[in-house]
Amino acid sequence: QAKVEVALGAIPEGKNVIIKWRGKPVFIRHRTGSEIEEANNIDIQSLRDPQADEDRVQKPEWLIMLGVCTHLGCVPIGEAGDFGGWFCPCHGSHYDISGRIRKGPAPLNLEVPSYSFPDDDTLVIG
Ligand code: FES
Repeated sequence: QAKVEVALGAIPEGKNVIIKWRGKPVFIRHRTGSEIEEANNIDIQSLRDPQADEDRVQKPEWLIMLGVCTHLGCVPIGEAGDFGGWFCPCHGSHYDISGRIRKGPAPLNLEVPSYSFPDDDTLVIG
């Protein structure tokens, strides 16, 4: 299906949800205040794929990304790794709480798909 609708009220703060979109996993995280702070409290130029958190989200509390490791395409594990985000067990890539690559072989940050918020409680991927 081209688009998938997600009811955000069902996802508590501090939780991850994985949905399928176009055959791929999409990670949705309802970030806490301290996670948002952590995502912004970094020297962007020190990153392998330099990107500000604000350029990866539309609303700071909602992080939405493809769950596809940018190394060779495995599905990273949530709430894992050395940087408070995701860990890819295939070859050991660590992503932070903004989905940016921090350690390991992956070259790029987790990809952000196109999405929108038609209203405060609804996310549409695609
Ligand atoms: Fe994720 Fe290789 S596929 S580290």
